Amino acid sequence: MIIRNASIVFPDGVRRGDLVIREGRIEKILPANTAEGEGNVIEAEKLTVFPGLIDMHVHLREPGFEKKETIETGAMSAVKGGFTQICCMPNTKPVIDNKVVAVYIKMRAKEVGLCKIHPIGAITAGQEGKTLSAIGGMKAAGVVALSEDGRSVVSSGLMANAMMYASDFGLKCLCHCEDASLVDGGVVHEGYYSTLTGLKGSLRAAEDIMIAREICLAESLSLPVHICHVSTYSGVQLIREAKARGVQVTAETCPHYFTLTDEVIKDFDPNTKVNPPIRAEKDRAAVTEGLRDGTLDCIVTDHAPHHEDDKNVEYAYAAFGISGLETSFALSYTELVKKGVLTLPELAEKMSAAPARILGLEGGKVEEGAPADLTLVDLAEKWTVDPAEFVSKGKNTPFGGREVYGRVKYTVVDGEVKYEEK
Ligand code: DOR
Ligand code: ZN
Ligand code: ZN
Repeated sequence: MIIRNASIVFPDGVRRGDLVIREGRIEKILPANTAEGEGNVIEAEKLTVFPGLIDMHVHLREPGFEKKETIETGAMSAVKGGFTQICCMPNTKPVIDNKVVAVYIKMRAKEVGLCKIHPIGAITAGQEGKTLSAIGGMKAAGVVALSEDGRSVVSSGLMANAMMYASDFGLKCLCHCEDASLVDGGVVHEGYYSTLTGLKGSLRAAEDIMIAREICLAESLSLPVHICHVSTYSGVQLIREAKARGVQVTAETCPHYFTLTDEVIKDFDPNTKVNPPIRAEKDRAAVTEGLRDGTLDCIVTDHAPHHEDDKNVEYAYAAFGISGLETSFALSYTELVKKGVLTLPELAEKMSAAPARILGLEGGKVEEGAPADLTLVDLAEKWTVDPAEFVSKGKNTPFGGREVYGRVKYTVVDGEVKYEEK
C-alpha cells in the first residue's frame, strides 16, 4: 500500500511525504509523489497522517454488560474514532482478575480483527479491595497494566503491595483516585452549580487525597504510578510538584475535562454525569495548562458506554460515564490545537506516543520499520457531533450538537484499512 502526498506528523514537525507499506510495516518514507509501485494507493493530498491513536483507558463492557457495549462494537467505535490500539478496563463481569478473562478478551479481539485490544487486569480479586488478583497469570496472558478503575484501593498497605508486585511483573498501576467516604453519594462537582441544582456535590479533595496518596507511595517505594482522568486544578498541581522532585508519576486526562465546565449540569442532562465530575472553569483551565506544560502526559477517553435504561433516569440515579471514542480526536484537535495550546506533534505525543511509552506498547511513531498503524484525518473538515451516528452502543455524550474540526477518514492497523469513512 502507498499513502501518497500526505502531511505526516513526526515528533519534530509536520512534513509532506509518501508512505510505502509492506507486510504490515512502514517500509519507506519518501519525498512526496515519488513512491512507485503496484497495489492499493491512498491519495492523501488533503489528509494528515498521525501515528495510530492509542487510548489507554476504555471500558468495553464485555464480558457481562453486553447491553452497553461489546468487544466488537467497542472496536468498531475505536477505529471510527481513529484508534489503532485500545486498553480495556477490568470492571467487567466477571472482573478481569485472572488469566481466563484476559485470554477471552484477547481471543475476541482477534476474532473481531479491527484494532489491537490490550486488557488491563484488576489490582484486587473481584475489585473488592481485599486481596491481590492473580497478577502473574494475567501478565502471562497479556495484560498491559493493573487498575481498580471505577474505585480506589482503599487500603494503603494493599496498594503498596500492589505496586511492588506489579513492578516485579513489569506492570504499572493505573489509579482511579477517589476517596469514597468523601464522595459519599455525590454525583457532580461541589460548587455553585451543585448548589443551584440541588444535586449532591463531591469535593475536589475526594480526588486529590488519593492522587496525593498514590504519589506518596510511588515516591517512598521508588516505583512508577499512573494517575487516571485528572480533573482538578489541585490534582494537576500535586502531579506537577511530584514530577519536579523526580517522582515516577505519569497522568492522563479526558476531553470532557478540558472542554466543559460544571455549568453543563444545570439542565440536569445525565449525559453530563461522569466520574470524576466535570468541574469548574478554574479546573478546566488548569487541566489544559497541565497538558500544555507536560504535567499531564496523555489524553484518554475513559470511554464509558451505557444503555439508555441506565442513563435516561433522574440525574442522581443515572450511571456515570461518557461514550468518548468517536469524539476524542476532534474535540482534542479543536480545543487544543486550533486554540494554540498544543502543536500537531504534541497532540500526536499525547494521543499516541505517550500512552505507548507509559505501557511499553509497540507504536506511537511514524517511522521506517514501525508497524503501519496510522490514522488519516481531514483536519479542515468541520462536522457536528450526532450521537445517533455513533457505532458504539453507548450514545451517551454531552457533546451532541457541538461543532468540531477534524474528521477521521482512514484507520490503518498493521497495514490494513480497518476503517474508511464512506
Ligand atoms: O464515569 C465513569 N464511568 N467513571 C469511572 O470511573 C467508571 C466508568 C464506568 O465504568 O462506567
Ligand atoms: Zn475511573
Ligand atoms: Zn474508567
